[in-house]
Amino acid sequence: MHSNQRVLVTGGAGFLGSHLCERLIKEGADVLCVDNFYTGTRRNVEVLLGSRSFELMRHDVCFPLYVEVDQIYNLACPASPIHYQFDPVQTTKTSVHGAINMLGLAKRVKAKILQASTSEVYGDPEVHPQPESYWGRVNPIGLRSCYDEGKRCAETLFFDYWRQHRLRIKVVRIFNTYGPRMHPNDGRVVSNFITQALRGEPITIYGTGEQTRSFCYVDDMIDALVLTMKTNDEFTGPVNIGNPGEFTMLELAEKILRLTGSRSKLVHEPLPSDDPRQRQPDIALAREQFGWRPKIALEDGLRETIAYFRDIVGA
Ligand SMILES: NC(=O)c1ccc[n+]([C@@H]2O[C@H](COP(=O)([O-])OP(=O)(O)OC[C@H]3O[C@@H](n4cnc5c(N)ncnc54)[C@H](O)[C@@H]3O)[C@@H](O)[C@H]2O)c1
Repeated sequence: MHSNQRVLVTGGAGFLGSHLCERLIKEGADVLCVDNFYTGTRRNVEVLLGSRSFELMRHDVCFPLYVEVDQIYNLACPASPIHYQFDPVQTTKTSVHGAINMLGLAKRVKAKILQASTSEVYGDPEVHPQPESYWGRVNPIGLRSCYDEGKRCAETLFFDYWRQHRLRIKVVRIFNTYGPRMHPNDGRVVSNFITQALRGEPITIYGTGEQTRSFCYVDDMIDALVLTMKTNDEFTGPVNIGNPGEFTMLELAEKILRLTGSRSKLVHEPLPSDDPRQRQPDIALAREQFGWRPKIALEDGLRETIAYFRDIVGA
């Protein structure tokens, strides 16, 4: 249980962070949300601002932070290519300096610390689905490298703090997640397709649209983050969290067109650089360790997400 625990959530005003803060408060924790509002907003945590268990602090994790907490969820980092490629040096700094600062804090106050890592550590994989034992195939000098290599280095730091200082760590490799409070202009496929469908604009399919992705609904993801934090101290991960159900981009577009009732047409554009052809989590470890599996079907999650976007797109 999280009752009476003081929990720091970095990146807490972002998409996943804001849902996590809400869940932790429901479980009885005192939550300190730290964010520099690079991609997150106060609006995402507006419902929590009146709660006595919630505190919001503007701070950049690239700088040290001194606070007394029992647990740290380190989520700070822009997550979509448009945002992380806007200032790639800052992206690497956020992952690497942010990890160093948060691990340093965890060491000082003896907090348990969870890292929001990513399926991007697998790069453009030769193995499908990807188990945690797969080391990945990442381009070190490409446009996505600031994010992929930053996250890989953060994992390295977590495991060195664990080996060297016996810190209690948890590393979660998050696969594509969607839901309400996703950024409408983040260029990700779910938000792109939904906003295009709601505005009646053409739906952009990169390449043939036969490439597949797996999509995890945010509530399933938050369940997994909280369950991972509660595992015994011997369990460090890395653990994959995502929904193994695979859909092609064309299938996703068809579902969104049907659920929005939109008459948008599909248009094809060239594939961006280093775009993986297929990405699917192997979630056997999460199932064995803490009995987690995603419960929410894509269509149900899309309905919730479309309802959120209808409000903000004003369609
Ligand atoms: N959503 C996904 O599908 C997905 C997939 C893999 C990994 N992740 C990871 O999960 C975490 C959360 O992702 P998200 O989708 O909620 O993205 P997001 O952009 O909505 O959230 C990231 C938050 O971090 C904040 N932030 C960025 N740089 C910061 C800094 N230097 N100091 C303090 N705060 C900073 C942003 O303002 C934002 O609120 C990220 O670490 C991301 O890499 C997400």
